[in-house]
Amino acid sequence: MTDAKPLIAGNWKMNGLRAEAVALAEATAAAAASDACEVAVFPPFTALDAVAGALAGSPVALGGQDCHEAEAGAHTSCISAAMLADLGCRYVILGHSERRHGRRETSETVRDKARAAFRAGLTPIVCVGETRAQRIRGLGDEAVVDQVFGSVPHAEGPIMLAYEPVWAIGTGKTATVEEIAGMHDILGGVLEALERDCEGSPILYGGSVTPDNAAEILAVEGVGGLLVGGASLDAQAFGEIIRAAG
Ligand code: 13P
Repeated sequence: MTDAKPLIAGNWKMNGLRAEAVALAEATAAAAASDACEVAVFPPFTALDAVAGALAGSPVALGGQDCHEAEAGAHTSCISAAMLADLGCRYVILGHSERRHGRRETSETVRDKARAAFRAGLTPIVCVGETRAQRIRGLGDEAVVDQVFGSVPHAEGPIMLAYEPVWAIGTGKTATVEEIAGMHDILGGVLEALERDCEGSPILYGGSVTPDNAAEILAVEGVGGLLVGGASLDAQAFGEIIRAAG
């Protein structure tokens, strides 16, 4: 773990109508009393405003799950970074594998979105990760390094990376501490090549994080926090993960 406070981030994905989202936000805020870490939640767009209200006065930060690369205009269905900032967001997740692979989003688009996030004053959390097929063929490191070089703008604005091996997302198959340490070491080197101060650019891990493995993963050299999917929908489990950081 780096010297900076770790970020424990909950990506709620496409889950939660407003009432459920507000209840989850309130329970998360109650569990986030520790000042040993930063906590952020990423509700669906439709619940952002309601969750912002529920989190008012709490230390839990808010983020969007994506944004468009343009500032405004004729982009039916899309959400701009400025719209997220207007709702009180501090962060935006970009390039999640469910968009890279599910929606065919390219690294170039992710980089344009990161620039849009900087313009709106948001910190992008850029996700990278290899597929199972890439890993089996020994191409995992190369795939992830290519994603970072393609998606992260050169030395502009604060950024976070999230290493999320695609084969570990929602599968219950967490990467081993050795695998996480190895990839975080590689990613630290890539950030340096992009002239980024690594202390100021935390690298999170995501992929089947649970209360049982959170402390062990947070103890890995170079891990600056966790991006949690399924377990962040259960306030008790997410609270245990938050406590693992303290
Ligand atoms: P799970 O924690 O459900 O594996 O999801 C991880 C993830 O995709 C977070 O962005």
